[in-house]
Parts: sequence; C-alpha cells; structure tokens
Amino acid sequence: ENGPDYALINLHETLNNVFLKAIRSSYEGFEDFDETVVTASKNFADYQCNAPMKMSKLLKAKGQNIPLFTVANKIVECLDHCDIIDRVEVSKPGFINIYLSQFKLRDILDFVLENKLKPNPLLHPKKIIIDFSSPNVAKEMHVGHLRSTIIGDSLCRVFEFIGHDVMRLNHIGDWGTQFGMLIALLQDKFPDYKNVSPPINDLQEFYKQSKVLFDNDPEFKKRAYNCVVKLQSMSPDHIKAWKLICDVSRQEFQKIYERLNINIIERGESFYQSRMESIVKYLEKEGFLEDDNGRKIMWSPEASIPLTIVKSDGGFTYDTSDFAALKQRIEEEKADAIIYITDSGQSTHFETLKKCAIHAKILNPSNVDMHFVGFGVVLGEDKKKFKTRSGETVRLAGLLDEGIKRARDKLIEKGRDKVLTDEELKLAETAVAYGCIKYADLCHNRSHEYVFSFDKMLEDKGNTAVYLLYALTRIRSIINNLGSHCKDLNAAISVFHENEWKLTKTLLRFGEVLFKVINDFCLHYLCEYLYDVATTFSEFYDNCYCIEKNPKTGEIVKVHDGRILLCKVTEEYLNTGLNLLGIHTVSKM
Ligand code: ARG
Repeated sequence: ENGPDYALINLHETLNNVFLKAIRSSYEGFEDFDETVVTASKNFADYQCNAPMKMSKLLKAKGQNIPLFTVANKIVECLDHCDIIDRVEVSKPGFINIYLSQFKLRDILDFVLENKLKPNPLLHPKKIIIDFSSPNVAKEMHVGHLRSTIIGDSLCRVFEFIGHDVMRLNHIGDWGTQFGMLIALLQDKFPDYKNVSPPINDLQEFYKQSKVLFDNDPEFKKRAYNCVVKLQSMSPDHIKAWKLICDVSRQEFQKIYERLNINIIERGESFYQSRMESIVKYLEKEGFLEDDNGRKIMWSPEASIPLTIVKSDGGFTYDTSDFAALKQRIEEEKADAIIYITDSGQSTHFETLKKCAIHAKILNPSNVDMHFVGFGVVLGEDKKKFKTRSGETVRLAGLLDEGIKRARDKLIEKGRDKVLTDEELKLAETAVAYGCIKYADLCHNRSHEYVFSFDKMLEDKGNTAVYLLYALTRIRSIINNLGSHCKDLNAAISVFHENEWKLTKTLLRFGEVLFKVINDFCLHYLCEYLYDVATTFSEFYDNCYCIEKNPKTGEIVKVHDGRILLCKVTEEYLNTGLNLLGIHTVSKM
C-alpha cells in the first residue's frame, strides 16, 4: 500500500478545485465556470480567491443584483472541507482570504523528510518519447545541439520523476547525402578500409576535404552520388564504410554525453530506411503524393508548405525519415506523447509534419500528443550568433574544457584550493562547470535567445548554478555541524515562526512547479523555484537560530530540533530539484 502522495502535492490546484466546486454550486449559471480563481496572496493571508468580483458582474448582467460581500459569503458557505485550509475570511468589499493549515503543511514536510521526495507510482503512466540532442554524423555537434541536449535531458528527468515511461531518443543525422562524399573520400584515401580501420580522428577535417572535392571535382561528385545510392541500397562495402565513419562520430558524441551525464538511445535516421520505403508506398497508394518537377511532395490542406517525400534522384529526405519515425513511434513504440526538441527554426518542419501525418491518418491527435518544443539561439557576448573569433562554430568539447578551466580558476581565486582536498576540488570544479553551463541554459525561458557568458554564469550571486550549489553546500555543512546536537530526530519540523512558515510554503510549491514544467515544457519555472527556496532559506537561517549559545562561554543553551529538521527537508528539495536539472551536487566547494 502506498502512503499519501505528498511528494507532488499541488496546494494551489487543490485550493483552486475546492473553490471552483463551491462557485459552481453557489449560484445558478456557474456550472461550467472554469478558470483559476485562487492566487497566492500579497497580504497577510496565504492565498486569496478573487472570483466574487467577476461573479457579481456576471450575475448583474443577468439581472441579479447581489452585493459582492454576499457573493463571497455564499462561496464560503458552499466550501467543502479541505484539510490544507485552516480558515477563510471574507473582508470588505468581497475578498476571500485563505489561511493554510500550519499543522497540515507541517505533517506533509515531516512525511517528506521521513520518506524522501519520492512520488507514488502512477496508476496510468504514459509512454513518452523525447527526441533530443540529435547531432549529425561528421558534422560538428554545436551549441544548438547542446541546448537540445540540456533541455531534453532535464525534461526527461522530470517526466521520469513523476513516474512516466520515458524513451530518450537520439535522432542522429546518419543517413544524409553527406555520406556519399565521405565514403568516396574514404575509398580514395584508405583503399584498404575493409581490412584496416582508417585513422580518421578528425572527422570534421575529413568532411571539409570531401566537401572541397565535391564542389570542385565533377568526377568525384559523380562517384559521391553513386555512393549514396549504393549505401541506401545496402551494398555491404558501402555499409562497412558508413559504419566506420559513424563509429568515429559516435565516440566523439559519447564523450560529451558522458561528461554531461546524459543517457540517450541512439536511433538515427538510418534506422528508418525500410520504413521509409514502406511509408512512401503507402502514401503513393493512398494518393497523397504529387509530382513537382520530378520530386514527390505531399500537401496537407492545413499546411503552408509541402513535405518533400522523394527527391528527383529517388533519394529520401529529412522529411521522409521524420514521417517514418513518427509512424514507427506511434505504431511500434505505442507512444502516448512524442516531444521534439530542436531550435525554433525547425518549427515549420514539425508543424507541417504533424498536419501531413494527421491528413494521412497516421497520427490521431486525440490519442497521441505530438509536441514541438523549440528554443532560441545561443548568442555570443557580442550578441551575435555564438561563434569563435575566427568565425567558426564553437566546438563543444573545447567549450566544456574551457568551462572546467574557468570553474577551477574561480575556485582558486576564492582560495578554495587551500581548504579542499585535490579530490574535492576536482568534484567541485566539474559540478560548477557543467552545472553552470546547464543552468545558464535552463534558467532562461527556452523560447528566448540567450547570451553565453562564462563570466555571468560563474557569478556566485543571483540566479546562478554557483549560488545554488553554494547554498546547498552551506545547508549540508549546517546539517553536519548541528545534526549531532539534534536530540530528537522524530521531532516535528518547525513551521510557526514567520520565516519558517514562509520557507514551508515555498518548499511546498514544488508539485505545482513540476506540473507547470511539464505543461509548458519550461524548465525556467523550476530554476526560479530553486532560487526562491535558496533565498528564503537564507532569510530563515539569518532570523531563526537553530542553536543558541551563551555568548560568554560559548556553551550551547538551547537546540531547536525542529529547525535543524527544516534545514534537512530543505536540503532534500534543493538536491532533488538540482538533480532534475541534471546538475550534480557536492558537499564541499
Ligand atoms: N539532426 C537534426 C539537426 O541537427 C535534428 C534532428 C531533430 N529530430 C528530428 N526528429 N528531426 O538539425
């Protein structure tokens, strides 16, 4: 048997539902009333209900002249019992102030402290496919892919935490026309590639060389085209060459994923080759394809552009593989939701894909949710597209190296190398470096562009990973130092002091925040929440002594067990939240 599901308790929604129900039964004509009626209060109450104003207007429009104050009282009369509410008060002219039950919220925190922040298993978990990262073989994995990787991983973590069945898919570009020229060059440079693995460690360089030949040597170009045809018809030699090239890329990508602690299943475009063939047949047979100068395209009546399904040379495209992938995910993987994470520039592609898939009866939007989650571009400090000084795309591995170096310098600048052991310093510098890169990305509204700046992200004040990591180590050292004085580990958490109560309410917004995150696919809500928790904790700790000492003798005169426990439960929320962002935490830094 599961205990109460307190880890994800959504106070705001609970209150809202109770008030909505009361409103619907208060007067006739509100049966379908459906909006948010409860908001966090700015005055002394915890929440307030703002509905009476609007209701009395609506009533007036129907010829019923009922004073605001009466409407408010009527709602209160109709309220069901709700154990998180202590009391409600109507104030003039017609506001309903809601006071939460401090005892109940304390019980919830006590429960979380004892059982950890672990949601109960879902009754009906959903199969959710998240398509993210998805770099292209032999091309540089750039900051755009980094954004997709960071946002995608964190979204997966949130869905997994809530209890859904998440499939993390890497839709690698491993089947495009670039392979024609890569294989042609491989044949030229390493004719013996079938027996001896060719030493191509710099695949980008290799790609550049083949591109130069492709653009300047007609003979080479012809052979390159021929190689694509051979590859897509599965000629063993060409498959072998293709595998060799993909392996080199895969190793490069894997290094980045390991550094950033990203779990993802590789399932590139090539996986769908036979499925592309069959979907083309299906579309052809059902009459969805039109000829357009030798290309086969598909229109949906709703879409502004068509998809290109077969090129004039018979080859397939990005559109074809996405169409086949969508069908595979619906029919074979039985996905309930499919989420794509790429830069906003691809929104038209995915919109068109969705419309065409609905038109072709492959996607039924009432059974399967298909969401495009776009994000803005990453800018350099000059506010232009993030590039190296010489104008090239920034290499991810180099960027991560620089992050490590900068994080280390920052820690040394603060003299931390004198306090920490070598091992602790290493742990701290990776936590800070990767944490700040991830956090800087996640804390911005994903649809906006943002400026990539190590200086900004390494600041230890304000809404940064460094600030949060410090806050957490501070709480951990408080727990370590004071924990031994805590006599009663089963004491109730203290919530009654003004600052304790503020922290309690802040912590318990966790469930509401996570639901907002998965509703809008926006991780900055979680970042803002964690920042709020850290600053509210700080206020609490400055105002509420956990231990009181005799100022003269230094002797401990009073231990506030309940406050030490409040520190502990705060640690649980902060640590869990940072983990959901993919940020590794440390105990010392
Ligand atoms: N490889 C693509 C790119 O680099 C991203 C793929 C996104 N996923 C998809 N199913 N199309 O732009």
